[in-house]
Amino acid sequence: MKGELLYEGKAKQVFQAEDKLDQLVLSYKNDATAFNGEKKAVFSGKGKYNNLISAKVFAYLRDKGVASHFVRSLNDTEQLVVKTDIIPVEVVVRNLAAGSITRRLGIEEKTVFTPPLVELFYKKDELGDPLINDEHALLLADVQPEELESIKVMALEVNQHLQTFFESINLTLADFKLEFGRNTDGDIILSDEVSPDTCRLWDKDSGAKMDKDVFREDLGDLLQVYDAILQRLEAVV
Ligand code: C5P
Repeated sequence: MKGELLYEGKAKQVFQAEDKLDQLVLSYKNDATAFNGEKKAVFSGKGKYNNLISAKVFAYLRDKGVASHFVRSLNDTEQLVVKTDIIPVEVVVRNLAAGSITRRLGIEEKTVFTPPLVELFYKKDELGDPLINDEHALLLADVQPEELESIKVMALEVNQHLQTFFESINLTLADFKLEFGRNTDGDIILSDEVSPDTCRLWDKDSGAKMDKDVFREDLGDLLQVYDAILQRLEAVV
C-alpha cells in the first residue's frame, strides 16, 4: 500500500501511496512532543488512538460537507489521504481560554469567547510557530486574501461541527488547531489531523482535561485518557 517515505514530522510519517500518485499514507507515531519539541516522550499505542480518533472526526466532517484530505482508514495506525501542499499557517479556534492565550494576554482560563476567536500561527519550528496577523499570513503563506478569508470561515464551520461531535461524547471543545492544504486542483481543503493531540477537550461533568494537556502538565496517564475518548466515540459513532 505504501511507497517511499516522503517526510517525517513530530507526530506522523508521510509515505507516497503505492498505487495513486495523488494520495499519501499517513502513519501516526507514538511520539508526544510539547512546548515546540522541548518536552518529549514515547507512548506505545498513542499512534493508534490519534489515527482512529482523527479518522472518526474526518468521516463526521465529510458527512457534514467539509472538504478534507481524508480518504479512509487503512489500519490501526495508518490512513489514506489526498496529497496537498500544506499552507504553513496553523489556524487555532478558541471557544474557551486555555493554553498560550492565557499566558500571552493574561486572560483567565475558561473565559468564554463569543464569538469564538480565530488565531493564526506561522508554521515554522525554527521560530517556535509565532502568532501572526492576516497580513503576515498573506506575505508568508502564498495565499490570496479571499482564500485566507475562506480558511477562517471553514475553521469556524468546523468548530460548529466539532462542538456538536464532542458534545455527543460529553466533552467540551475548548480550542483546537487546524491545518489546510492545496490539492492538485488548487482547491484549499482541511488537512493534517484532528485528535486529542490537537484539541483541548474537557469532560463536561468533572471538568477533567482529556487531551495532550495531560502530557504537557503531567496530569496522569495519557493513554488511558485517549483510550477513554476512543471508547466513548465507539459507543456513539
Ligand atoms: O498552545 P495553544 O494554547 O496556542 O494551543 C491552542 C490549540 O492548538 C490547542 O488545542 C493545542 O493542542 C493546539 N496546537 C496544536 N499544535 C500546535 C500548537 C497548538 O495542535 N503546534
